[in-house]
Amino acid sequence: MKHGLAVIGTDTGVGKTLITARLCLAARQLGIDCVPMKPVQTGAHRMPDGRLPSPDLEWILAVLGLNPLSEDRNRMNPYTFEMAASPHLAAEMSGEIPDRRRILEAYDELSAGHDATIVEGAGGLMVPFGRDWMLADLLVDLNLPVVVVARAGLGTLNHTLLTLEAIRTRGLTVAGVILNQLSSNRMEVIETDNVRVLQELGDVPVWGTMPYWDDLDDKTEPDIVRRWLMSQIPELSRQVSLYLLK
Ligand SMILES: Nc1ncnc2c1ncn2[C@@H]1O[C@H](COP(=O)(O)OP(=O)(O)OP(=O)(O)O)[C@@H](O)[C@H]1O
Ligand SMILES: [Mg+2]
Repeated sequence: MKHGLAVIGTDTGVGKTLITARLCLAARQLGIDCVPMKPVQTGAHRMPDGRLPSPDLEWILAVLGLNPLSEDRNRMNPYTFEMAASPHLAAEMSGEIPDRRRILEAYDELSAGHDATIVEGAGGLMVPFGRDWMLADLLVDLNLPVVVVARAGLGTLNHTLLTLEAIRTRGLTVAGVILNQLSSNRMEVIETDNVRVLQELGDVPVWGTMPYWDDLDDKTEPDIVRRWLMSQIPELSRQVSLYLLK
């Protein structure tokens, strides 16, 4: 049986890439050969040599200290587009429309060569990837337990509860929610209550809260990011072992 998790957000920019890296690190620390996948990336920058690497995938690989061969790298990121827009629009503007079967093949080939794969979505659950399909359709095909990344503070209850309902309506399993402190401007009473409400009303385990890290920017050394991430939410090891250990 193939092991994997899908990491989706309540929105774009909520911390899916950061959390995907954290989950991969937790798995790898347990001795699981776990790799990331970013099926569709938008907002990529073209290199002088013409390549269009996925910034999310490359950031995670650097943090994990991995440098896969191009065959595996292409499976980890079948589609990348330059326009910073919804995947369906970025794809239309580029003239290449993502093919869901190709993504599923890439996932199958990737997961055949590794113990576990963690798939990062793009934007939120109902972001269109083509004119007639959205991320949710891909998740149904992948049939992976879903981890929802949401902001920790004000505004998260509605977005997260809607996302949980939409995942379950499609027959998918919600593995857990991870909250992310996206700013230093925090209200502890709200954040604590959010955890309680999501567990009770959302009927979902909250795996933990990632603290805000003031020093994080594009230039932070991958080794420093790795050390910092490894020191956060240590209980993720247990959750990851439940889903990704053979
Ligand atoms: N806990 C945190 N502390 C400080 N900065 C953070 C934290 N989490 C995320 N960020 C920053 O917020 C931005 C968005 O995070 P991230 O790229 O992980 O979001 P995303 O959900 O993957 O976005 P996208 O939809 O583009 O894939 C990044 O610049 C990241 O460095
Ligand atoms: Mg991302």
